[in-house]
Amino acid sequence: MGYVLGKAEGRDKLWHGHVTAVTVSPEYRRLGVAKNLMAYLEDVSTDIYNAYFVDLFVRQSNSLAQLMYTNLGYSIYRQVVLYYSGEEDAYDMRKALKRDKAKQSVVPRKPFKCQPHEIEWS
Ligand SMILES: CC(C)(COP(=O)(O)OP(=O)(O)OC[C@H]1O[C@@H](n2cnc3c(N)ncnc32)[C@H](O)[C@@H]1OP(=O)(O)O)[C@@H](O)C(=O)NCCC(=O)NCCS
Repeated sequence: MGYVLGKAEGRDKLWHGHVTAVTVSPEYRRLGVAKNLMAYLEDVSTDIYNAYFVDLFVRQSNSLAQLMYTNLGYSIYRQVVLYYSGEEDAYDMRKALKRDKAKQSVVPRKPFKCQPHEIEWS
């Protein structure tokens, strides 16, 4: 039906869960599968890894996925210029977990745009 692939990475206050990919087969969409997979990854990031936040990259053109992430509590942290094969920008979206009580990790970065080589972990 679908899958989520992720990892825990980073250091100090940047210790976080990362969503490498989430995909649901077309015949099983709009049933809450992705929502449940994302909740599972967030629970693992919190309970097993004690991470501060979860992040992910999404294509600028993928407005459906952006809407889903926004509805799940993610917000845009920064824009990575030409992240995808030098052809399309990415939004770096984040959601603070309970360890980040002040939600410092999700305050949009200034400057908002960055280059792929500036990403600390990916
Ligand atoms: C994006 C994707 C993972 C969503 O999977 P899904 O299982 O259908 O999503 P869910 O049913 O869990 O939906 C969760 C929420 O996302 C939003 N959403 C998902 N699909 C939507 C759609 N077609 N239109 C509008 N909102 C949508 C809704 O807010 C939805 O909550 P709701 O159904 O209570 O309104 C799926 O469409 C997919 O695999 N797309 C191709 C791969 C992709 O783009 N992955 C993300 C790359 S970063």
